[in-house]
Amino acid sequence: RRVCLIDTDPGTDDAVALWLALASPELDVRLVSVAGGNVGLIHTLRNARAIVGLSGRDVPVVAGADRPLLGAFRPELQVHGADGLAGAALPEGPSEAPGVAADAIRALLRAERRVTLIGIGPATNLALALATEPALIDRVEEIVLMTGAWAEGNITPSAEFNAWSDPEALAMLLECGRPVTLATLELTAQALVTPTRIATLRASGGGACLDAAARIMAGVPPSRRFGHRGHPLHDPCAIAWLIDPTLFTQREVHVHVECAGVPRGRTVVDRWERSGHPANARLLDTLDADRFFALLATRLATLP
Ligand code: BDR
Ligand code: CA
Repeated sequence: RRVCLIDTDPGTDDAVALWLALASPELDVRLVSVAGGNVGLIHTLRNARAIVGLSGRDVPVVAGADRPLLGAFRPELQVHGADGLAGAALPEGPSEAPGVAADAIRALLRAERRVTLIGIGPATNLALALATEPALIDRVEEIVLMTGAWAEGNITPSAEFNAWSDPEALAMLLECGRPVTLATLELTAQALVTPTRIATLRASGGGACLDAAARIMAGVPPSRRFGHRGHPLHDPCAIAWLIDPTLFTQREVHVHVECAGVPRGRTVVDRWERSGHPANARLLDTLDADRFFALLATRLATLP
């Protein structure tokens, strides 16, 4: 079992990603650290507690950054709703653990020889943790992120939301020297939630978590603005990579993060080896979506 932590900003797709991870024996989730992102920290923290609580798993949830390393906090209310969970109204979860995310992340790295860092929100907490005790970077097995885009953005013409939320933090992770895997928008656009897929999920049985996941997924409108016939289930793609890499194809690339001006948050992905820079990331390229949704249904059905 892979020892890991999940840094998150729930977030509708974050909720599904957390349940997928907590239901999967391949992953030993030791910590859920939370940042402001899709909605403010007060909401993302309450949501993370509720999501973990509903799963019945005893995993500490700890509060982290309420803003990026630099600049102002700007949420994304259009997709996730004012509460961040498309109005799902989950029961209140257990209290958060004391302390702050960066400290808790470092404590886990100190306690374990190898930890996989999974980031499905702005990268602030992970960057802060590694920057404040660089000796711990060797303990990082790998970093798996839902972030970035190699073509167009979803929050600006150039930038994907997580990358745009804290580009400096993302740049720090890409430069830390440990293996980084990216699930970008082009990958997650292959994981489209449709009414048929929600019906299939519901038909797989399960309990309160599966029911809540189906309700949350049904509460997000299709992203027609981007030409999609459903909405992309972004964050669970990063989790699925760690559970079953045979669902994906991949390539090694160099990624540069723009931190200034109009393209702030743009991930410049060198897919065709034009930059002359050595690869610093693994780009997940294609997804077998039918098997991905089948995995999701099977795993979520095992939760309470
Ligand atoms: C990312 O931004 C958030 O809205 C989602 O939860 C996902 O992590 C997609 O751009
Ligand atoms: Ca997210």
